Amino acid sequence: MVNIPSILVIDSGVGGLSICQSIMSTSEANEQNLQIIYFADDAFSPYGLLEELELEKRLESIVSSMLVLHQPDLVILACNTVSTLLLPQLRAQFDVPFVGVVPAIKPAAKKTLTNRIGLLATPATVCRAYTDALISDYAAECEVIRVGSNELVTQAEALLAGEKISLNVIETVLEPFISEDIALEVDTIVLGCTHFPLLKQQLQEVLPNVSWVDSGEAIAKRVHDLLGQMSHGHTHSSDASLVHQIYFSESLPDQFTFKSALAELGIKDSKLHLLNIS
Ligand code: DGL
Repeated sequence: MVNIPSILVIDSGVGGLSICQSIMSTSEANEQNLQIIYFADDAFSPYGLLEELELEKRLESIVSSMLVLHQPDLVILACNTVSTLLLPQLRAQFDVPFVGVVPAIKPAAKKTLTNRIGLLATPATVCRAYTDALISDYAAECEVIRVGSNELVTQAEALLAGEKISLNVIETVLEPFISEDIALEVDTIVLGCTHFPLLKQQLQEVLPNVSWVDSGEAIAKRVHDLLGQMSHGHTHSSDASLVHQIYFSESLPDQFTFKSALAELGIKDSKLHLLNIS
């Protein structure tokens, strides 16, 4: 019998899987096993369009239901749109530890050589008060160009569903980062939505000279540090019973295509479920 920690990861869709990818690669490097319980709330996507109260009620229902079904060691709000708004409220309501994902402004400000950085996130995240505070606390010296996009969320969803995605759409979204005057271009762009690292290859194709910064590695490190401090974890009789559980609230994707995409992200053995939470 082995003790294997489990983590509950929540997003409006497949975006949080970019965070799972970083976590799986860190756990592989540390030879640590863990089980992912993933909740993709496709019935309520995109979260950026929901009012604060509705979003808070929705997240409460998801966390309560999932805590009953599984007993995760921690919860990751793998969504910048939620974490920049509701992290304190959710922490106050549940006993389980929460890890939030917010735009990586601080590392980007350290990395830029030109003091011109971009923030690419959902329209809701780019104008949150939390984001303003991150910028004034950590990037006060920098010019920050904010671009909000829901189109890239749709593109990332399409990519994982095995559909064709459009480079033209990505080029149009990235246009505000390009200037005729090279001195005015950004050298570093923060991917402040967890869907966007899934499109890293396509983003790099459009802007090859930019450094892309996301929160994946920092979150993976935080999760491993937190799990390391906990002595518990669920007991599985063997590694064979360690199957990652992936929930959707509205519709299941094609199993074969989706499981292949998961495997490419390092989530090898998975079971998909449909769970309508009201
Ligand atoms: N992946 C979510 C984020 O990081 C997408 C938000 C949405 O559904 O609007 O913000």
